[in-house]
Amino acid sequence: MIFEVDQKRLDGEIETLAAFSDAEAPAVTRVVFSKQDAKARAWLKERCREAGLAIREDAVGNTFARWAGTRAELPAVGTGSHVDAIPHAGKYDGVVGVLGGFEAIRTLQRSGFQPERSIELVIFTSEEPTRFGIGCLGSRLMSGTLSPSEAAGLRDAEGDTLEAVRRGAGFSGSLDEVRLPGDYYSAWVELHIEQGPILEREGVSLGLVTSIAAPASFRITIEGEGGHAGGRLMPGRRDALCAAAEIILAVERFALGTGAIDTVATVGICQVHPGAVNSIPSRVQLAVDLRDTDAARRDTVLREIEVACGEVGERRGVKIDWQMINADAPAQSSPEILAALTAACEAEGIGFKRMVSRAYHDSSFMAQIAPIAMLFIPCRGGVSHRPDEYSSPEEISRGVRVLARTLASLSAGGKS
Ligand code: GLV
Ligand code: MN
Ligand code: MN
Repeated sequence: MIFEVDQKRLDGEIETLAAFSDAEAPAVTRVVFSKQDAKARAWLKERCREAGLAIREDAVGNTFARWAGTRAELPAVGTGSHVDAIPHAGKYDGVVGVLGGFEAIRTLQRSGFQPERSIELVIFTSEEPTRFGIGCLGSRLMSGTLSPSEAAGLRDAEGDTLEAVRRGAGFSGSLDEVRLPGDYYSAWVELHIEQGPILEREGVSLGLVTSIAAPASFRITIEGEGGHAGGRLMPGRRDALCAAAEIILAVERFALGTGAIDTVATVGICQVHPGAVNSIPSRVQLAVDLRDTDAARRDTVLREIEVACGEVGERRGVKIDWQMINADAPAQSSPEILAALTAACEAEGIGFKRMVSRAYHDSSFMAQIAPIAMLFIPCRGGVSHRPDEYSSPEEISRGVRVLARTLASLSAGGKS
C-alpha cells in the first residue's frame, strides 16, 4: 500500500496552530488552560470532526479523537502528544506528534485503509510543567501515576488550584475518571522532534526510541537575612543568593561528576526576593531538573545535592528547605512496537537509528498502562524550547509516513 502524506496541508496546519500564541511570532507561548490554549483546542477539535473522528474529552481536558475500527470492541491503538508550549517556545515540540498523528490517520483514510482496531489521537493536557510545576499532568492522571486528589490541589503562580482552573476552562466531572484501564490501548506510539542533535549530526532521518530517561525535579528554598546593601557590612551576612550560587554550581558539578553523558541537571528557575539592586537577597527559590537514563545514578546525584545543601546551609547560616516534585522511573519501549516501526522504515526506504530520549514525554507515563514506543524526527541544531526550533516539512512528512504505516500494522486485530 502507498501512503501519501499531505505535506502542504500539514505544514499549513503547523503554522495555523503556531498563531494561537501569547508571544510574538516566531515565538510560541501557549500555557495550559489559557485563552490561546482553548482556541487551539477548539480549532483542532473542529479539524478532527471534519475528518470524521469522534471526540471525547476527560475531566482534565485530555482530548481523544477516535477513528473507529471494524473491531471497535478491541483495545485501540493510540498516538498523539501535546500542544501546550512553554514561554517563548517554538512551533514543533508536541505539535508534530498531534498534527503529525492526525495527518497519519488522514493519510490512512485517503489510502482506503480500514483499521480493525480503532486508532485514537490523543492531545494531552499540560505536558509542560509551566503552569502547575509538574509535567505530563494529563498522562500522569491517565496512568494513575498522580492521584486525583494530589492533582486537584496543585496550584499555579496565582495560587489557583488545578481543580478550579480546569473547571473554569469547562472541564467538569471527577478527576477519578481520567485514569484509563490497562487494556485501553494495545499499543501507543508518539511522534516527536528529537530535541537533541544526534539525528541531524549523523544524517539519519528517524530515531526509534528504545527508552526514555528518568526525570526528577525539586524546589530548593533558601532563607537568609535581608537588609540594606550599603549599610550592612560584609562580615556575617546571610545572603540567600550567595548560598544559592554555591548550590547551583554543586548541581552542575555532581551531574558532570558521574562521567556519564546521560546525566543532565539544570537549574531553570532562580527567584530572588525581594529582587532589588540595593537589597540583600533574603529568600531564593531554585527549581532543579535532573535526569538520567539510569534511575539509580540519578538518585545518587540527588543525594549528593541534598548533602551539599546541608553543608552550605550550615556554613552560611541560611535555612534550606527541599521539596521534591517528581522522581519518575525510566520507560522502556516495547520490542513489538519497535519491530513494527523498523518494518515501516524499511518498507518506506527511510534510514533510522535506535536511540534514547533524554527529554520526557507523555509516553513516559503511557508506558505504565500500554506497550509504547516513540519515533523521533531531526530538528535543526538539536534546538528545542526556543523560538528558532525547526524541522523541515520533508522531515516531518517522513515521520508521518512511517507513523501511518506503523499504526496500520498495529491496528490489525489478531486472533483475540
Ligand atoms: C519536556 O518538555 C521535557 O522537559 O523533557
Ligand atoms: Mn517541551
Ligand atoms: Mn514535547
